[in-house]
Amino acid sequence: MTEKTMSGSHDADQDEAVRALYEGFPYPVVLPDLDAVIAGAKVPLWNPVDSAALYFPELPARRDLDILVAGCGTTVAPVLAAYIPEARIVGIDVSQSSLDLSQQHAERHGLTNIELRQLALEDAAQLGKSFDFVHCHGVLHHLADPTAGLRALGGVLKDGGALSIMVYATYGRAGLYMLQELCQRLGLQVNEQDGQKAQDLLVQLPPGHPFSMIHAERQQRIAIPEVMDMLLHPRDVSYTTDGVRQLVDSAGLKFHRWLGQAQYTPGLSGLVSAGLGPELASQDPWEQAAIAELFLGTLIKHEFVVTQDHRRTPAELFQGDGLLHAIPVLAPHLIVEQDGAVVRLANSAHQVPFQLSGDVGHFAPILQAIDGKSSVQQQLDARPETASSQSPERALALDTLRQLYFSDLIELRVGP
Ligand SMILES: C[S@@+](CC[C@H](N)C(=O)[O-])C[C@H]1O[C@@H](n2cnc3c(N)ncnc32)[C@H](O)[C@@H]1O
Repeated sequence: MTEKTMSGSHDADQDEAVRALYEGFPYPVVLPDLDAVIAGAKVPLWNPVDSAALYFPELPARRDLDILVAGCGTTVAPVLAAYIPEARIVGIDVSQSSLDLSQQHAERHGLTNIELRQLALEDAAQLGKSFDFVHCHGVLHHLADPTAGLRALGGVLKDGGALSIMVYATYGRAGLYMLQELCQRLGLQVNEQDGQKAQDLLVQLPPGHPFSMIHAERQQRIAIPEVMDMLLHPRDVSYTTDGVRQLVDSAGLKFHRWLGQAQYTPGLSGLVSAGLGPELASQDPWEQAAIAELFLGTLIKHEFVVTQDHRRTPAELFQGDGLLHAIPVLAPHLIVEQDGAVVRLANSAHQVPFQLSGDVGHFAPILQAIDGKSSVQQQLDARPETASSQSPERALALDTLRQLYFSDLIELRVGP
């Protein structure tokens, strides 16, 4: 037997082990409150309607999207179907029990814009359809060949479409990988009994174990399917920012941007306060992202947007004069708090909390001018203090808009 066929059969065995895990323990366990989603009271994070500018900055916003949820598990497809009734949702997964739960959930809420099918995402072409938006969170890192999986998803994108991807991050999960090794050494298997043992083990972890970075509430029992997913998974790889770059490049696709880009912009972090601004300034965005990940230390996942190779990235669209012609929109999960003369801005979708604060007198006119229709140039021209292209106030306002953008507090659309 050649090495290739040996690894091929090993891959097939592991594929089956992954499928069996999710067949027996569908994920996630907790089904979201779809009534709240339908009522708009619970907004799915980074969804393609509210975050349209982020995924499709060059296209007019639309709700009648064709959406593929690849490796949909139990909840994502019904949530998107409920939140965007005008969209057509296709969910695929290798686990029939996960699809059944999604189906029951959808039927209970009378959702008709959803179609579910047992299919490996590597075979997405078999759907014979293409999509405006493909959601694939928490799946590629369980495949034998994540690059082939990503390439297959790129192959079903409509022209101008976007992929929303989440893969595990290496450093933030270090404590979890220690426990995976521990479980392997003890010979724990994917079954209810061993799942319970792993569950008990988590409760007994000593304080300060690096796993507590991932799950701080040590005393709270983590549900068995979640324990299985974390500790007894037959196949789980993780990525650094460099790994993400290689994954996207090797799939022949284009990295568009991080979903929470503040977390990858070390210029916004304490590194500048540490006097490292000049060293950072000379690095390219990938190097900066790598530095940010090492500095934060706690990122447990990377969420990012991937497009076809010909699409322009935000860096290409909004640099220099591009920013003047952009139309800013407020980020969907923006939190604004005012404390006297100080305003604090944050985005509740961030994995690692991040805050931008400053003088209300400076931020308020910039934020109030954002109407989702006018360009940055029009907004600056309309205010006497920023109207002159030479004024320091205009340069300062442009800097602030850039900062708001890289902090994920506003999004930018390409103007007409
Ligand atoms: C951790 S769950 C994530 C579910 C969902 N994407 C979410 O974000 O909640 C991983 C899912 O991927 C599915 N899966 C694993 N390998 C797959 C493959 N090759 N093709 C399609 N789905 C797969 C599993 O059955 C499981 O439902």
